Parts: sequence; C-alpha cells; structure tokens
Amino acid sequence: VYKERENIFSLNKLAARFYNYLLTDTNMGKEALEYLNKRGFNEEDIKRFHLGYAADEWQLLLNFLKKKDFSIHLIKKAGLISEGNNNSHYDKFRNRVMFPIFNNRGEVIAFGGRILDSEDNYGPKYLNSPETQIFSKKKNLYGLHLAKDRIRKENSCIIMEGYTDVIQAHKNGFKNSIASLGTAFTEEQAKLIKRYAENAYIAYDADTAGNKATLRGLDILNNTGINVKVIELEEGSDPDQLLKNEGSDVFNELIENAVNLIDFKINMIVKDKNLSEPGIRKKVLRSIVELLSGVEDNLEREIYLERAAAKTNFKADILAEEVEKEFKENK
Ligand code: CTP
Ligand code: MN
Ligand code: MN
Ligand code: MN
Ligand code: MN
Repeated sequence: VYKERENIFSLNKLAARFYNYLLTDTNMGKEALEYLNKRGFNEEDIKRFHLGYAADEWQLLLNFLKKKDFSIHLIKKAGLISEGNNNSHYDKFRNRVMFPIFNNRGEVIAFGGRILDSEDNYGPKYLNSPETQIFSKKKNLYGLHLAKDRIRKENSCIIMEGYTDVIQAHKNGFKNSIASLGTAFTEEQAKLIKRYAENAYIAYDADTAGNKATLRGLDILNNTGINVKVIELEEGSDPDQLLKNEGSDVFNELIENAVNLIDFKINMIVKDKNLSEPGIRKKVLRSIVELLSGVEDNLEREIYLERAAAKTNFKADILAEEVEKEFKENK
C-alpha cells in the first residue's frame, strides 16, 4: 500500500504536467487559455499554480497514462477516471480548466476542474477529485505550498474560498493567501494553519453562503487559538473580482478595516433587518444581548455594547442592563 501511495503521487504529477501541456502548447487548449487570459490570468499565474486543461475527449488522459504504464486500477485509485458500462473507463475531467491541488510539500494530491463559461457546457461549475489515499479535502488548504513561508514570516494568513481567489491574490502580492476549497472550513484546517501562524483573516465571498461559512470559520479558528478577523467585501463580490476590478490598494484598505469576531457577529445580526418593525427589532436586540452576555471581559463587553447600541440606534443603558442580567445568569 505504501508503494501504491507513491505511485499515485507520480501519476498525479504526470497528469498535472499533461493537463498543463494541453493548456499551454496545443490547439485543444486554446479556448481554455483564452478563458483564463480573459479572467486576467497570464502565463506567469498559470506557471505558478501549474494550471492545465482537460480536453473535450473521453479517454485522452486515460490512454496517455496507460501508455506510461500506469494500470487502470491505479488511475482509478487516483480518482482520475470513472467506470462506464461493460468495464469501460473514461476521463473524469473533460473540457475543464484544471487546478492541481498540492499538499504542503508541493506534491499534487488532487485536482479541481472548472467548466468553461459557454452555453453548451453543462455540469457543476467545479468538479473535484474524490477522497483518495493521498487526498482528504478537509485536511488540506489550496495554495499552502506557495504561501507557507510568507504565512510564517507574517505570522498571518488570509483564508479565501476558491482557486481563483488565491491565484488572483498571489498575483497581486498577497502571498499569504490560501483557500479552504469551498466554504466548509474545518478544525483540521485550523490546526494546519496554527502550525504556521497565530493570526488569520477570513476573506470569503460576500454572499449568503460565504457569510454563513465565515461565522463557522470564526468560531473554529478562535477555538483553535488563532486570532481571527474578517475582511468584509462589497455584497456579492469575492477576492478575485475585487482585486481584478479595484486592485490591491483597495484590498489593503479592507484588510486594515477587517473586523473582529464580535463585531462581525453584530453586523450579521443586524444585516438586512428592518429595525423599525418592533417584532424584528426585539429579536435583533435579544440576539445582541445573547451575544454580548458571552463576552467575559467587562471592558470589552462595554465597548461592544456601545457599538451595538449605535448600530441599532437603541439606548445603550437599557441594552447594558439586559446584558448584565443575562451575564450574571450565565455565571
Ligand atoms: N466549489 C466546489 N464545487 C462547486 C462549487 C465550488 O468545489 N460546485 C469550491 C471551489 O474550490 C471553488 C470554491 O468552492 O473555488 C468557491 O466557490 P465559488 O465562490 O462558487 O467559485 P469561485 O471560486 O468564485 O470560482 P469562479 O470565480 O471561477 O466562479
Ligand atoms: Mn462562493
Ligand atoms: Mn458562487
Ligand atoms: Mn467566489
Ligand atoms: Mn469568483
């Protein structure tokens, strides 16, 4: 089995090279290359992240790997082919831009494949390798192999959602950026970060899924002993779009204005609520009382109280009374 793991590493490495070759040096990869260029990614970005293209063919990778003496058994174990009828096999990734996922040693452990934006394409936007002997999604962070030295040096990292966020971030000089591969941030990932830094920023997409995941990630990171702040983007945006459209100065400002755990939670409680509606107003205030009564430090509690009162345009002393009541009850 040890040997099999090693063989899967070699196979993945070769597959990544093949995908990269198809993207950069063949006619088949032209559309994908244009797609990446149009999104603002150039030769250097493609090289840095070893991006590739899986051709619009059923067995191109399969035949290539077979010719290189890899068995179908192993290619399947690597998660690169699927089984069809009558024991036939076909490439799992077809007509997709390929993002190799590396472990922190820089070895290819899996792939993500993005559909090209055009009408006649179907399927999920991203397709990822399955869990394999060498890939566990919840234990890895995209881009960590490139970011780890900077993360250690700055004692801080920026956690994003996706491949393109991280690639755009590195392109713009934010080289301590990594991605949790979707929005399900895990305890294992927090522990992995802790090996390199004590501080983290979450820069997830400013949409419902991203906000929800930020709340989860905040608690996980905080419980792991990492000081965490949230980079708040303009509604509907993500780091890739923001950096591409507005540049690194704007992103730097957002980093400087990043909010801490309690502030972000207050913001989320208040967000999109009609505070002139008494029923809603009461619920919002109740949630804030609940939140603030969990803050142990007296001064800290007072500071957040003031801010919460200002945000809800509510009397600070009445809010304070309720918080203290709840605080003592919790003791
Ligand atoms: N993701 C996934 N499967 C999906 C959708 C998303 O694995 N069907 C993961 C990918 O790692 C993706 C990340 O979640 O990069 C964030 O998803 P999303 O915000 O929807 O995509 P973007 O990263 O913004 O990708 P793009 O800019 O190319 O649309
Ligand atoms: Mn998203
Ligand atoms: Mn999305
Ligand atoms: Mn996104
Ligand atoms: Mn995006």
